[in-house]
Amino acid sequence: MANAIHVLKTSRAVASMADEVRRALTARPRWLPCKYFYDNRGSELFEQITQLPEYYQTRTEVALLARISDDVVARAAPRELVELGSGAGRKIGMLLEASARAGRAIRLVLFDINPLFVDASARRIAAQFPGVDVHGLTGDFFNDLATLGPGGGRLAVFLAGTIGNLHPDDVPRFLSRIARQLEPDDALLVGLDLVKDTVRLEAAYNDAAGVTAEFNRNILRHVNRVLDADFDVDAWEHVAFYDHARAWIEMRLRATRNCRVRARGAGLDLRFRAGEEISTEISCKYTRPSFERMLPRTGLMLEQWYSDDKQMFALTLLRRVRMALRPV
Ligand code: AVJ
Repeated sequence: MANAIHVLKTSRAVASMADEVRRALTARPRWLPCKYFYDNRGSELFEQITQLPEYYQTRTEVALLARISDDVVARAAPRELVELGSGAGRKIGMLLEASARAGRAIRLVLFDINPLFVDASARRIAAQFPGVDVHGLTGDFFNDLATLGPGGGRLAVFLAGTIGNLHPDDVPRFLSRIARQLEPDDALLVGLDLVKDTVRLEAAYNDAAGVTAEFNRNILRHVNRVLDADFDVDAWEHVAFYDHARAWIEMRLRATRNCRVRARGAGLDLRFRAGEEISTEISCKYTRPSFERMLPRTGLMLEQWYSDDKQMFALTLLRRVRMALRPV
């Protein structure tokens, strides 16, 4: 039986969205938190992105996971899997199968911002793996991690390169927060998109079919619906480029004409000039050294670095060490 527990009550979710959106849209430069891509339509568009010929990440990670899942389970010997940002919850099935092959009974916790996805995935997995005790948690993996409770026999997984959506300055703190929910010897598997040629990177965020553009603009529809705003979505164009110095893809929305936007739910009345931009996402690309630099004092150490033969994507197995954690 899938047991879904939702952390964020809808009213609190709306209030914190109003707060965050107000602060982000009035900051300079203006921005929007990328977690607001993922309303139902956005989550569906992201699923479409994962199928695009230009978007190599998902298929590379899935192939890599198929190759290494037995090794990961052998090393971590988990009694519990926790998937952070579970989305459609497909990849976790590969680790459940590996656990079954190893003859290990396992409990699964799916943790995602979208309650509909958590519910649907929890139900599907519970039906597919009758022996697995499946739980769902809904929340923000930055602020609500503590609801996971203490670890012990826990393998947390944070796939899809989602860690790339955090600013590198925030990554050590984020990793130590996860480490806090792990006991010594528990493990964390992190998916990382790797630095590679600019043409390949930029193509993945500027697909020919325009799905990423639609995904990007959909954040405005989400704001319109939840915060009673009136963004004219057609007035905004998709921009995505690789910033070499920072080793990240940045996505923006650029106003194609002057516009006034009101968001009653957030108490906003804004004016944008033609050409003005809102930054909607960064997606950091790592190398093994640049990622290893994030680890000191997080309470986690690198146990195993797995990558495909073209070095497109990496899965890193981190281990909680017995030491004091850095302050949060
Ligand atoms: C898989 C969530 C990390 O940054 O590549 C896809 C989201 N943004 N296309 C990424 C995304 C634009 C994606 N994450």
